[in-house]
Amino acid sequence: MKSQTSKRNTYNKPIRAKGKTVVGTHVPVMVKEVLGYLAPKRSNVVVDCTVGYGGHAAEFLKRLGQGGKYIGLDVDGKEFDKTIWRLKKFDIATAFYRKNFAEIDEVFHDEGSDGFDIIFADIGVSSMQVDTASRGISYKADGPLDMRMDDRLEKTGIDLLAELSEEQLSKSLWELSDEPDHRIIAQWIVGQRQSSPITMVDQLVRLVFNAKGLTEQTWKKKQKASRFGSLHPAARTFQTLRILVNDELGSLKKLLEKAPACLKPNGRIAIISFHSGEDNLVKSAFETGLQDGTYQSISEKAIKPTMREIQKNPRSASARLRYAVRGQ
Ligand SMILES: C[S@@+](CC[C@H](N)C(=O)[O-])C[C@H]1O[C@@H](n2cnc3c(N)ncnc32)[C@H](O)[C@@H]1O
Repeated sequence: MKSQTSKRNTYNKPIRAKGKTVVGTHVPVMVKEVLGYLAPKRSNVVVDCTVGYGGHAAEFLKRLGQGGKYIGLDVDGKEFDKTIWRLKKFDIATAFYRKNFAEIDEVFHDEGSDGFDIIFADIGVSSMQVDTASRGISYKADGPLDMRMDDRLEKTGIDLLAELSEEQLSKSLWELSDEPDHRIIAQWIVGQRQSSPITMVDQLVRLVFNAKGLTEQTWKKKQKASRFGSLHPAARTFQTLRILVNDELGSLKKLLEKAPACLKPNGRIAIISFHSGEDNLVKSAFETGLQDGTYQSISEKAIKPTMREIQKNPRSASARLRYAVRGQ
């Protein structure tokens, strides 16, 4: 039998050692489009709400000069210091905050700024977060169902699986991920937790397979028969739980509410989202802002990555970019 320590080491091994993204890194998405729409100038003050691996950060920093400043935010305590260290090579004024972008108004206050020229957010999870089994974000490798991007948060996925009512679970699975089997999965979660708590990735994956009446074998057959491959049966359940644990929609709503007051006249904001619920929030906030004069122009529709980018980086496939320009 393996000891606890060796188990923990296993969970810390990267999941996608054979994937396209180099282990422990993250490939920034839609860089050309982001830079094209935000058009950073040398003297700009740029707020990057989601520093991650620093891919977009490096592109902003390359374009800033004397008088310019890069301000980076992220909630992830595990990756943030490593990224800040990597970005030190740029000789540009910087400030870093381990903060939720929902608190952008506090950053604005702390910076004593008369307004930011650019606000950028590339929301969701980084490859480093998805690929670390001990975070329990991916269904691909076993580990504890932690799911927090920010380890200062009180509740993990394990807590929510223990506490949410059947109705809450079912509603969330449907509303956040369009899970067609939301009712039965919620029933199985509640049934299972009466005998033992759901704490591990493999346990939840098995539960979803059972709830859907699938086995590994029937699923693999289905996969082979499908021309484009189909979504993993547990993908929507994992996505739902991660969104709930990190209150992803709540944070985005706050950012969208607070951003206009932090932007200079003619300042620009761009947001990349990876989920239709998030994209709808961005679309609606920008459209309302256009109608009431907060914004002078917005992207007409969601901008998608090119086929070439998707081929090179399959994780970019669901990215949707929208931008808005603050009124005078
Ligand atoms: C898709 S990655 C960003 C990748 C980054 N643009 C790059 O080029 O490496 C998303 C990052 O946003 C962070 N994040 C997610 N929600 C956040 C929030 N509400 N506030 C601050 N950071 C957040 C995550 O911890 C993660 O590091």
